[in-house]
Amino acid sequence: MVDVDNECYHCPSVHPGLTDLYGRSYEEGPWIEGTHRIRGPFNEKPSRRDLNKDYRNLVSQHPEPFNSMPQAWLYIGLFPVSVLVFYPESAGFYRSIPIDVQTSVMTGATYSYSGESESMQLARAQAALIDGEVMIEDKHVCELHYQATASKYWEKGFLGDSEKALREHHDMLRTLIPELNSSAPS
Ligand SMILES: [Fe+2]
Repeated sequence: MVDVDNECYHCPSVHPGLTDLYGRSYEEGPWIEGTHRIRGPFNEKPSRRDLNKDYRNLVSQHPEPFNSMPQAWLYIGLFPVSVLVFYPESAGFYRSIPIDVQTSVMTGATYSYSGESESMQLARAQAALIDGEVMIEDKHVCELHYQATASKYWEKGFLGDSEKALREHHDMLRTLIPELNSSAPS
């Protein structure tokens, strides 16, 4: 689940709503001290989805200084389970807590800024709807991933070029826990 969630190379194909919100101009990669950063500036073109249109219309009404803040969604991944989230009208976090190999529980919170405007309050509610869609899409991808790895045709392989942050995290774990360098059970 963390593998699916923490790097957004899957976003263009899995999250059409997010792609409509910030287009393909998002940038991501390993960041400071083993963290991973995803930054999605809003699409330069108008969004097509009503949910995103309404959200961006609200964001444009935010008072200063929020109106001058970057028009973007920013995520900072703290491997292995936590993500910090910064939107123009809120800040928050979420965590994926593994229960067993196929089940995780997500917890998190979104915080408003003190003295928020009505547009900021409404935008937080709208962003929660967008995030709700993303959550359902990610859940579906996790199910497909489990089906794929359970297939007899699944072959173990190296991480792809897009999985830099995950690879860095695995490398760090192998440094901290030398036993992980051995593929044979001891
Ligand atoms: Fe996702």
